[in-house]
Amino acid sequence: TDTALIVVAAGSGTRLGRGVPKAFAEVAGATILEHALRGLAGVDARLVVVAPDGLEADASAIAERAGVVASVVAGGATRADSVAAGLAAVGDARRVLVHDAARALTPREVVQRVIDALAAGAAAVVPVLPVIDTIREAHDGELGGIVDRSRLRAMQTPQGFDAAVLRRAYAEAPDRAASTDDAQLVQALGVDVVAVAGAELAFKITTPADAERAASLLAPQPA
Ligand code: C5P
Repeated sequence: TDTALIVVAAGSGTRLGRGVPKAFAEVAGATILEHALRGLAGVDARLVVVAPDGLEADASAIAERAGVVASVVAGGATRADSVAAGLAAVGDARRVLVHDAARALTPREVVQRVIDALAAGAAAVVPVLPVIDTIREAHDGELGGIVDRSRLRAMQTPQGFDAAVLRRAYAEAPDRAASTDDAQLVQALGVDVVAVAGAELAFKITTPADAERAASLLAPQPA
């Protein structure tokens, strides 16, 4: 395969409050990283897991338990640093998907839509969802106006890229450390970003409430 799939699983996960890096927190009997990798088993791509520095061996063991073959590299202080570390490890892959381990329940259909859009010629692909909350701007504690939510989309992962385009975006982005969205870096180069349908199940586990939601979705259903 000429496709690599980078799973970023570094970072501290302070907001989850478990005292271990987020991807290593247990939800429904397995780590978030294991759930994420189980969901990717069989995807036609070379897997690169980006783990917190020092937890590479643990990440390898988790990959084995999840039944996938993955190379593991150490991440950095920001998500963008972790993506860059993963990108340095994809070798000569022509296409690269970048996925958050924290989106552990992402349906396979979403991954496939991204892969299909790349195969159809897109240089950058992002799964999106409509925004359901009413959103307002805020400046220095003062509430501004309501933003028309019909014009808004929430960005999910995996995001897919032509590898050369993503490398260029990371090499040239002036302010990449602040970026939480790879597609935005690519768009800054003037590259068109194609949207495909995301999924509610691709939510990012961030807070304790998210972890509870994931646990109840992963729990065995009564017959
Ligand atoms: O912190 P947040 O939930 O936005 O992180 C999104 C994804 O990026 C998670 O899967 C997390 O493991 C990863 N990440 C990383 N390196 C960092 C920060 C976050 O790999 N320094």
